[in-house]
Amino acid sequence: MRHSGKSNEIERYQRESGAAAYQLKYRSTWIRRLDDTREHRIMSRLLHRIDHGLNILDVACGAGRFGELLVGQARSATFLDLSMPMLQLCRHAMGEGGANQTTFIRAGAASLPFRDDSFDLTVAVRLLHHFHDPLRRTELITELLRVARRWVILTFADRASLKGRQRRIRRRWLGRKRGEAMIERAEVLSLAAAEAFQRVTIVPISRLFSTQVYVLLERQRHTPERSRAGLCELDAVPCNTEVGTMRRNMIYAAVFDKPS
Ligand SMILES: C[S@@+](CC[C@H](N)C(=O)[O-])C[C@H]1O[C@@H](n2cnc3c(N)ncnc32)[C@H](O)[C@@H]1O
Repeated sequence: MRHSGKSNEIERYQRESGAAAYQLKYRSTWIRRLDDTREHRIMSRLLHRIDHGLNILDVACGAGRFGELLVGQARSATFLDLSMPMLQLCRHAMGEGGANQTTFIRAGAASLPFRDDSFDLTVAVRLLHHFHDPLRRTELITELLRVARRWVILTFADRASLKGRQRRIRRRWLGRKRGEAMIERAEVLSLAAAEAFQRVTIVPISRLFSTQVYVLLERQRHTPERSRAGLCELDAVPCNTEVGTMRRNMIYAAVFDKPS
């Protein structure tokens, strides 16, 4: 079996050319534009089920595809990505307007540099399908949940989707490339339940043409605090800056000092 694709994509996103190509991807063909429109509609509907004036974290924000929508709902918005070129595109896309507080952080999603419950809403769109290792996915999902006080919106490639089933058949019988990591719904929902989150809704982008589904989770009760971490301004020096005291439109880097 050929192993492709998705982890190489992450490397590609680290480069300026890869980030620029991703930014254009959803405008490149009518089918991509249709996906993008559908995704914005779904995100908008999910956001309408949640309060306004939130403190929002967009993990793996990429070039800021959902930036405007999230900022429209936010009191403050934090955009986080591993890729500096993506963050720069995201910052550019956000311009000067938007939420009172908009910050950009270069950090890894598996070790988020925030205290527990730092955000009202954590979002992670099109991140999990890059990770074939279930332990790595557990780490990522648990981190998204940890820093969310009440809401989480995430997407994953649903193993049970029609397109997912077709892909598995093709992989098995035609030796097609491994491609995206497909996940059982139960994997996500049981990790959520372990952190006291319950599914509000699951919405497929398209029942026929996409594996990706959007999930809205809501926290039912609070769990004891487990970790703390600091941030470091990339340009200026002060370290251990906390969410809420960050300066607008700065890009910060994570300090990986999370205690085990
Ligand atoms: C497919 S893009 C999705 C971007 C955006 N959420 C969207 O839907 O347009 C995946 C993004 O995840 C970022 N990424 C990959 N691994 C990451 C990690 N471990 N921590 C943070 N970001 C990561 C990549 O740099 C890239 O910007």
